[in-house]
Parts: sequence; C-alpha cells; structure tokens
Amino acid sequence: MTHSVTIAQEPLCMVEMVFPNTTNHYGTLFGGKVLDLMDRAAFLAATRFTHQMIVTASMEHIDFLVPVRTGHLIELLAQVVYTGTTSLTVKVDLFSEDAFGNNRQHASQGYFHMVAVDTNGRPSAIPCVKIETEQQQQEWEYVERLRALRKGHPVRPPLTA
Ligand SMILES: CC(C)(COP(=O)(O)OP(=O)(O)OC[C@H]1O[C@@H](n2cnc3c(N)ncnc32)[C@H](O)[C@@H]1OP(=O)(O)O)[C@@H](O)C(=O)NCCC(=O)NCCS
Repeated sequence: MTHSVTIAQEPLCMVEMVFPNTTNHYGTLFGGKVLDLMDRAAFLAATRFTHQMIVTASMEHIDFLVPVRTGHLIELLAQVVYTGTTSLTVKVDLFSEDAFGNNRQHASQGYFHMVAVDTNGRPSAIPCVKIETEQQQQEWEYVERLRALRKGHPVRPPLTA
C-alpha cells in the first residue's frame, strides 16, 4: 500500500433531528449520544477518505459547549485534519439549531483518532491529506502536538481489579 497519494478533502456533513428518545429529563441530548453521533461522523469521513476498514483508537478534547435540545436539528461536520502512516485524525464540529427558529449554535467539537486496518485488524497504510490553508496547517500542527504528548506518556497507571 502506497503512502504517497495526497488527497484534498471536503468536510463530511451529517444531519439529524433530536427526538425525545435520545434526551434526558432536562430535554437535552445525552452526552453519550453526542459522542455516538460524532464518532459516526468521524468514521464516515475516515472511511470516505481512506476507502479502508476503520476503527476508532481514541478521542480527545471533546467539548460540550452548549446543550442540544429536543426538536433541534443538528449538523455534524467531520474533516480529516491529520494523517500519519496508518492513522488519521478527524475533527468533528456539531452545530444545533431550533427547527423553527434561526439560532444556530456551535454545540460540540472534538478530535477522533481513527486507524485503518486490514482484514486481520492490523494497521494499514493510508494516503496523506492535502494541507492547503493556514487553518488546515494550524489543525495539523495541533494534532502533531497531541501525538507528541501521547507518545511522550505511553505508560498509564496500571489497571486495578
Ligand atoms: C487501534 C488499533 C488498531 C491500534 O493497533 P496497534 O497495533 O496498537 O497500533 P500501533 O501501535 O502499531 O499504531 C498504529 C497507529 O495507530 C495509532 N494509535 C494507536 N493507538 C492510538 C491511540 N490510543 N490514540 C491515537 N492513535 C493511536 C498510532 O499512533 C499509529 O499511527 P501512525 O501509523 O499514523 O503513526 C488497536 O488498538 C485496536 O484494534 N483497537 C480497538 C479499536 C476498536 O475496537 N475501536 C472501537 C470500535 S471501532
């Protein structure tokens, strides 16, 4: 598998409506459901980018900025912002708006580290994302810093029974 192909990428857009079966007793979307939707969007963006099998390795800096309410329309924008050898990072932004109003808000954001795997589940090489703008360069450098932090602290406290 070559690692030399460079691909420009539009953000993937996913739209959903918030129904009562996904909200808590305050009438706002459960954090776990927000994560589920963001992970799906990241998965779709990574799959479209690589055309390979994708698994989520980790997620970082997930911010729930404002609550998302029942009856709101939500739009998720998922953009590949970094590519390594076999992994890629997708930034997901979630916007929420009242279906009958005009009050779009940036409700959540986060970084999803995805890995392309072969049929045996082993990491598999992916293409490079094309960096074209200053904003894209800043996102790339931000993820590089996250990776450096992760690689600098590979040992976590031992799991306890
Ligand atoms: C993710 C997984 C494939 C990594 O396998 P591994 O053999 O440990 O991978 P390696 O250490 O060789 O690293 C492979 C790549 O993954 C990245 N990676 C591994 N663990 C990571 C983590 N926790 N966070 C972010 N990236 C990670 C590495 O940085 C490397 O990236 P690069 O090739 O771009 O430099 C493996 O841990 C796995 O299958 N996990 C379960 C995934 C899963 O079930 N997800 C939920 C459902 S989709």
